[in-house]
Amino acid sequence: MCGIMGFSGGYSRGFSENLNGKSSVDIVLNGLKSLEYRGYDSSGIAYYDRSGKKIKCIKKSGKLVNLSTEFSCIKPVKSDIAIGHIRWATHGKPTDDNAHPHMDCSGNIAIVHNGIIENYAVLKSRLIKKGHKFITPTDSEVIAHLIEDNINEGKTFYEAVRLSAMELSGAFAVLVLNAAEKSIAAVKYGPPLVMVHKGGEVYFASDVSPLIEYSDEVIYLKNSEIAYFHDGILELTNFKGKKTAKTVTKIDWDASRAVKTGFSHFMQKEIFEQPSCLLDAFSSRVISVNGRNAGEDGSRLKNKIKDSFSGFKIMLEDVKLTKKDLADASRIVITACGSSYYAGLAVKYMAESICGIPVIVEYGSEFRYENFPISKNDIFIGISQSGETADTNSALELAKAARAGIISITNVPGSQITAMSDKGVIYTHAGPEIGVASTKAFTTQLLCGLLLALRIREIKGYIPSGENIDGLKIFNDMVELPKKVEQILFMDEAIKETAKKYYKNSNFLYLGRGILYPIALEGALKLKEISYIHAEGYPAGEMKHGPIALVDENMPVLFLLSNNMLAPKTISNIEEIKARGGKIIAVADYEPEIDGVSDLIKIPETSEVLSPILYTIPLQLLAYHIAALKGTDIDQPRNLAKSVTVE
Ligand code: AGP
Repeated sequence: MCGIMGFSGGYSRGFSENLNGKSSVDIVLNGLKSLEYRGYDSSGIAYYDRSGKKIKCIKKSGKLVNLSTEFSCIKPVKSDIAIGHIRWATHGKPTDDNAHPHMDCSGNIAIVHNGIIENYAVLKSRLIKKGHKFITPTDSEVIAHLIEDNINEGKTFYEAVRLSAMELSGAFAVLVLNAAEKSIAAVKYGPPLVMVHKGGEVYFASDVSPLIEYSDEVIYLKNSEIAYFHDGILELTNFKGKKTAKTVTKIDWDASRAVKTGFSHFMQKEIFEQPSCLLDAFSSRVISVNGRNAGEDGSRLKNKIKDSFSGFKIMLEDVKLTKKDLADASRIVITACGSSYYAGLAVKYMAESICGIPVIVEYGSEFRYENFPISKNDIFIGISQSGETADTNSALELAKAARAGIISITNVPGSQITAMSDKGVIYTHAGPEIGVASTKAFTTQLLCGLLLALRIREIKGYIPSGENIDGLKIFNDMVELPKKVEQILFMDEAIKETAKKYYKNSNFLYLGRGILYPIALEGALKLKEISYIHAEGYPAGEMKHGPIALVDENMPVLFLLSNNMLAPKTISNIEEIKARGGKIIAVADYEPEIDGVSDLIKIPETSEVLSPILYTIPLQLLAYHIAALKGTDIDQPRNLAKSVTVE
């Protein structure tokens, strides 16, 4: 959605020399660069200028480089307290004026805000009646004037912030800069807000990526919490003014993972990180019968496995499901959005075949407004890379209110979704995913969903299921997975050649059956969101019920084909498309006996429940190369943001 960043070097002690000569503006500008993937249609910084003894505010529409250029044209700034913002517009066009920070009437207060103020209109009309002058149509500007109004009524700055926070409704992560006190306050309700407090300095940000260069120990502000930093002193309270404990979380991300290191785009780097991310996702969680973990040399482990079902144990320490929970549960409900929703669809296939439990998968944005009869015996799984997607979290709030158990699969420790997950959190351990298009987060979500399904099967004991799950093969194939992903990545140049044939097309169809149908949806989304080419994913068997009317010689149709019982059906679907002149691209784990396929992308074979991971990789590469040939902004596609923390 948006990104906010703030810094204070304890102004009252004079200019903080421990900034190594860097001003607070440099620190905040650098931080905004790490947050640019969250939104990039305008940006701005407000700082306390020591010489002028007042707040100065510079903001620009367009990319962050426009703001950096603006600062490079003025004399070096001497300041050690600043706040900054990078925007994905919700209210008001992305113009210079509508960019954050927003000021009050007096120039004493500047604010930056991530989220949405739902009652801003009522507050704004009241404040206008009291004489406040608004400059923009944005919801966020109300916050600055509300705080000012409370100060005008005799409240201290902290009290003014606290009372204002209690009056706001909606979602808000806010940083407030106060010129009179030279202090900074942070307010969190909904969207994430993380801080580092060390050596008499505080750093605030929307997520850890701008903070990991300063410390690997962070504080995730909780909902209804305020951090107030003045005269080098940090105070943490809730909205009622009660002191709250400072909980420090250690981050296992190193700063190096948040840079491109030789790749052309973050998305490309993150596609190529997948072998190691997948290994990180399972290696310490799959223990063979002799207690060795699968991450070690898998070949040495394989021949030591005796157990009939699997020979390995799934270690998901945080998952607190009991045999009784599973006996009482008549179903599993998965809720998510975008790529995470497609991961949920694939996990449905895995869980139903491995655990024998019916699984329902719901878009978060739909679920929250349906009359879905939630039972306290339901097991909910929330899947979210950021852990901050408003639609997903709001859907889970309904499950929580109905006392259903919640497990989440997420990539961000301390994110909002983790606070709701009473039955446990499974971290994907993918590291920071900077590219807006989900890649390594998606494939590690698939793997974590499979691990959860296997764990549920262990807790339930034997499952009378139609398909005998060969746990031993799954284990062996899981150990081989990183290597097989690497084999596909070695096909990058060949896939780039395929992309050259299709990047000028304006439509695409992606077709798959069974567990590969969700991957057809994901492949279409990857192409849409980074190349802006219209693409649709469909169940291959569904084409004859209408969509086949779209097919002609200008329609490339990409089939996901696996050598299983569905193969003959999919082959028939390919013939149907061929008969109508469609261009066929096939991604297959065998050599299909069919002519007229324009392009065949052959990938290694694996267990069916692991196949969605392998089939996703060539689709990521194809979308990447088509977008690169089209010259679109791959890491920051138009209109998108990495984490949609509003409805
Ligand atoms: C995926 O490429 C998209 N960027 C988007 O669909 C994303 O998956 C969706 O917004 C959900 O985000 P989350 O996983 O952080 O909840």
